[in-house]
Amino acid sequence: NKIAIFASGTGTNFDAIMDAIDEGTLDAEVSLLVTDKINAGVIEKAQNRDVDTVVYNPKSFTDKAAYESALLADCRARDVEWIILAGYMRLIGPTLLEAYSKRIVNIHPSLLPAFPGKDAIGQALDKKVKVTGVTVHFVDDGMDTGPIIAQEALSITEEDTKDEVRRKIQAVEHKLYPRVIQSLLTKEEAK
Ligand code: GRF
Repeated sequence: NKIAIFASGTGTNFDAIMDAIDEGTLDAEVSLLVTDKINAGVIEKAQNRDVDTVVYNPKSFTDKAAYESALLADCRARDVEWIILAGYMRLIGPTLLEAYSKRIVNIHPSLLPAFPGKDAIGQALDKKVKVTGVTVHFVDDGMDTGPIIAQEALSITEEDTKDEVRRKIQAVEHKLYPRVIQSLLTKEEAK
């Protein structure tokens, strides 16, 4: 059950996945962390956990296909079976989608199809929604559009600041994502 995590940010979901593995609730091995940001907080988290890390500047490649071919080679070299996006701020292109068909998943901080794209939490607050949540979905060529695997809702109150909503969302994400990944891996083993 070898997985690669792709992340561009602080990596709290990365840590939650690693914690679930350490606790034995997720039977997987994180063989690789991929990041497209040289200063992403997640890099240090991966180093602390001795997870192989590759850092790329996508702009140093001629195009997206070349960039993704490099990622693909990194994944294949480690027999990666699943690609787990955890705050990876980039659309996945045909090179990876074809190679890892139905094997790339993403977590998004809203109840999709509401509020896709950047700053989903800000979008939800602007609309004054009372219920929002977290979605785990398969990745396709759109922005947060692939088939939904799991969702969990949470309430927002008038008093909640953006930071508080973010904390609520993250608390849900950190439980939901490892659980959903485990169920995907289990289903696959049963095939
Ligand atoms: C999460 O809220 C996730 O839903 C979104 O990006 C954020 C990543 O946070 N796609 P972190 O880097 O895992 O802390």
